[in-house]
Amino acid sequence: MTKQENKQVFSGIRSSGELHLGNYIGAIKSFIELQKTRDCVFMIVDYHGITTPFDPKEIKNTILNVALDYLAAGIDPNKSILAVQSNVPEHLELSWIFSTITPVGLLQRIPTFKEKIRQHPDYVNLGLLSYPVLMAADILIYKAGLVPVGEDQLPHIEFTNETAKRFNNKFGKTFPEVKAKLSEGARIMSLNDPAKKMSKSLGPKTYIALNDSPETIKEKMKKAVTDIGTTGKMTPATENLFLLLKILGKPEHYEEFLAEHKKGTIKYSLLKETLAADIADYFAPFRAKRKELEAKPEYVKKILADGADRARKIARATMREVKEKIGLMI
Ligand code: AMP
Ligand code: TRP
Repeated sequence: MTKQENKQVFSGIRSSGELHLGNYIGAIKSFIELQKTRDCVFMIVDYHGITTPFDPKEIKNTILNVALDYLAAGIDPNKSILAVQSNVPEHLELSWIFSTITPVGLLQRIPTFKEKIRQHPDYVNLGLLSYPVLMAADILIYKAGLVPVGEDQLPHIEFTNETAKRFNNKFGKTFPEVKAKLSEGARIMSLNDPAKKMSKSLGPKTYIALNDSPETIKEKMKKAVTDIGTTGKMTPATENLFLLLKILGKPEHYEEFLAEHKKGTIKYSLLKETLAADIADYFAPFRAKRKELEAKPEYVKKILADGADRARKIARATMREVKEKIGLMI
């Protein structure tokens, strides 16, 4: 399989709560573009989700909510496969096989592992360490060549490539080269701390969720940090707001505020008000579609069940090939 011929795309989003602007700009916006021309599998990666603390009473609901977010944002189940990872157990089989060819020291050096230990010092489990192994299995079981993700995932993509190479060298060419696809806003920062990326783990006040009401967006945006002075170079906080305005705002607003910033006449309160209103407008169709889908949970569950069936067909074929290459019984 040559790079040019590989039309397969895979990406996953953890089942850890509502989706925010970082997820949308860093990942989902690309998913929607890619599904027009490629074969895509998008998964709610619940087995990854349970490596950090979670509430067993809530998780089912969270998974359904992420599915609603995906569908309302424009994932088309007639074009793409949308499924829940734990419904395709072949991922775990391949993950086990990969774990037998992965040096432990390599996993200990991956930055996200160290970050997770810092975030949850009482929750350091083996699943966290082998997180990238399962991620490599997610991608390679579909022989995906392209993975749309935010910048934070690059070490995992590098690990995936190393794993594919290690497997191919040991057992014969099976897996393709994998490329990350970064979008323009591959790293959207938190509204109240521009040194940290926008993330669910920092709490709902620090991010804007796709399903936030116009009033909530306005309130959250009001509290976003900006510069104090009006001249000079943009600080990371202002840069982040301008990036949001460029991607989600009306083009004339972006131009106007950029010119005001250059002249030193910018009013940050007005920038934030305008940005909040533009974001609310941008996601108006999303909110309407989501409301419609919320009333049809059975329809959403059916999409996920069909998605898992379609995904399993591909995953089973890869597992058969993998077992054959290794010499295991089929
Ligand atoms: P997660 O919610 O951590 O599973 O992330 C799902 C996808 O969104 C991954 O591709 C992440 O890289 C991407 N993502 C998460 N947060 C951000 C952010 N602040 N900026 C850009 N992309 C992000
Ligand atoms: N690790 C990703 C995140 O935290 C989620 C993920 C799991 C993923 N498996 C994947 C992303 C495969 C892309 C491809 O966001």
